[in-house]
Amino acid sequence: MEIIITPDYESMSRTSAAIIAGEIKRKHDLALGLATGDSPIGTYRELARLHKEEGLDFSKVTTFNLDEYLGLPPLHKNSYNYFMWENLFRHINASAHQVFVPQGNTDDPEEFSEWYEQQIKAAGGIDLQILGIGRDGHIGFNEPGSSFASRTRVKGLYEQTIKDNARFFDKEEDVPRFAITMGVGTIMEAKKILLIASGEGKAEVCQQFIEGPVTSQITASALQLHSYVIVVLDEEAASKLKRREYYNWIRNNKHIVQKRIGR
Ligand code: F6R
Repeated sequence: MEIIITPDYESMSRTSAAIIAGEIKRKHDLALGLATGDSPIGTYRELARLHKEEGLDFSKVTTFNLDEYLGLPPLHKNSYNYFMWENLFRHINASAHQVFVPQGNTDDPEEFSEWYEQQIKAAGGIDLQILGIGRDGHIGFNEPGSSFASRTRVKGLYEQTIKDNARFFDKEEDVPRFAITMGVGTIMEAKKILLIASGEGKAEVCQQFIEGPVTSQITASALQLHSYVIVVLDEEAASKLKRREYYNWIRNNKHIVQKRIGR
């Protein structure tokens, strides 16, 4: 894992957006996996700016969102589909047939989940997956104990996640108790992964998933088994890391070895 520690939320967002933009420029028809929540909002804002001011072209990009609340129709103001249109899709040149978000109000979640996996395969697999992390270590809605082999499916939300996400709803009782989410196995098949985290509330879990043991109790720790992961943190989220000097040293010196091997 490459760990990038940035001073604050804004620079974390700019750094993440620059990585995504670089991948889109390298491969115009990128299959891009997306997350919702507070963590990527600044990144999406910066991507929208890059589109408007610097012509970053999304016309051939296909996107796949990680998850959606079960039971919420796509236009519900708390749905992740609505979030994505508000925070990204309507600000860039993406067309509706190229953006995939799990359908929360499907009649048959099992059949839908299989279809979703097929769409990802048909796009050639996800090239770059964006992730946030829950305070309980979840990626997507893969709560503690999720199998590392899991695929897109319905998952019950953990109590802490319901409490954390209540801030977006009028009251805690309104937070759906289930979601459709890509599995850990689905996420791990992405060619590259970019995880974004900010704030003191994420410091402990970031230390655990980066430096602790690989365990399904912290599903993000599965990323230690992936060959290409970049983690972009702000100072607060990085504050409990034990090897931060090493990560910074690597970041400042990797050009030496990159030059030697000619990359
Ligand atoms: C959302 C998702 C979740 C969030 C996580 C962190 O699509 O998959 O795993 O990334 O709950 O949420 P924030 O960024 O709001 O702290």
